Amino acid sequence: MSTISLSHISKEYKKGTRTVEDFSLEIGEHEFVVLVGPSGCGKSTLLRMIAGLEEITEGELWIDDRLMNSLPSGDRKLAMVFQNYALYPNMTVRKNISFGLESERDANGKKLPRTQIRQRVDRAADMLGLSELMDRRPSQLSGGQKQRVAIGSAIVRDAKAYLMDEPLSNLDAKLRMQMRVELQKLYRTLSASVIYVTHDQVEAMTLATKIVVMNQGMLQQAGSPEEIYERPRNLFVAGFIGSPRMNLLKVHTVLEGGRICLHGAGFAIPLADHASKAMLRNGYLDEDLVMGVRPEDLSLSGRPEEALPFSFELSENLGAHRLLYGVHEKTAETLIARIPEGESVPNFRSYPLYVQADRIHLFEESTGMAVLHGTDVCREETA
Ligand SMILES: Nc1ncnc2c1ncn2[C@@H]1O[C@H](COP(=O)(O)OP(=O)(O)OP(=O)(O)O)[C@@H](O)[C@H]1O
Ligand SMILES: [Mg+2]
Repeated sequence: MSTISLSHISKEYKKGTRTVEDFSLEIGEHEFVVLVGPSGCGKSTLLRMIAGLEEITEGELWIDDRLMNSLPSGDRKLAMVFQNYALYPNMTVRKNISFGLESERDANGKKLPRTQIRQRVDRAADMLGLSELMDRRPSQLSGGQKQRVAIGSAIVRDAKAYLMDEPLSNLDAKLRMQMRVELQKLYRTLSASVIYVTHDQVEAMTLATKIVVMNQGMLQQAGSPEEIYERPRNLFVAGFIGSPRMNLLKVHTVLEGGRICLHGAGFAIPLADHASKAMLRNGYLDEDLVMGVRPEDLSLSGRPEEALPFSFELSENLGAHRLLYGVHEKTAETLIARIPEGESVPNFRSYPLYVQADRIHLFEESTGMAVLHGTDVCREETA
């Protein structure tokens, strides 16, 4: 069991340009950490710094009680699957999987017994659906099969953490889903943490015990999938997590009948009493905010004061749900609603969509920071 601590880590490939900036994160003994963020935001760089394949420009990396910054990669006891994995072309699948394990030594400097190596390799191959391919060479494998061999060579090892950079990106949808389930099972058998990079939201939400959202080299938020989805800390996280993405509409806070009301183009939504009071205490009267509404929190019926003028463009049937795509009739802001299948959709171009006021999110327009989630106010005191 190991803990990993990243303390104020930065990376400069080129002097003066920070690819990763002041990144701090604590990883407990048995966590499945999923790193997400737009392409180029520094996910692979961060993973490579943890693995010791890239120098840390500033900050400290600790594994347990040991500072890792200048420890060579091979001495860190970490297993890694690279984004651009490389297999040994002249070795069979079996040899590729067992190679790293064969060079491992136990605490007394002794190699692992052959039978144990064989057992571990067979178990991994079985789990990854590679048992029939053990004597082939990489050139005789498909891209997805090669990727599974790369995963196999990492998971057979006894590591302090398993670092995986988009390990399922070359698999087709069905295999990806199977592998997701296998990885979940695998994680339960490990006593170490997994740090995993993906672009797939479903993978992030289902595998992670902790999601870490990055943008432009900086940590945006780290938390459980529920926390990140229900309480995004800022507009970036709100817009990035969730598919389809959260609807975002400009509003202005106005006092009406002693209560804060969110005025937007063609709508005025009153806040619940306690939320309104807390917002007033925090000075959010007469402020420009952004209202966030998840597609599943828009519906075809509701209270008149919670109606948004919607101009329908197209619908998509997803089996259990239907997605309605369109725009706000007056401002042309994109609106997407997720409606349970079977609910009858009006046959007009324009009709209202209803917001569930107790499910909205509010953000400061100027800083992007969250102000309110549902009816919970984020900060009770103004800074
Ligand atoms: N060796 C390098 N030298 C200089 N710049 C680099 C190097 N490696 C990566 N970068 C730059 O650092 C930034 C972050 O790259 P990184 O590969 O970490 O992104 P990423 O989040 O993994 O993206 P993706 O999702 O596309 O894999 C990018 O702008 C990239 O061009
Ligand atoms: Mg990458």
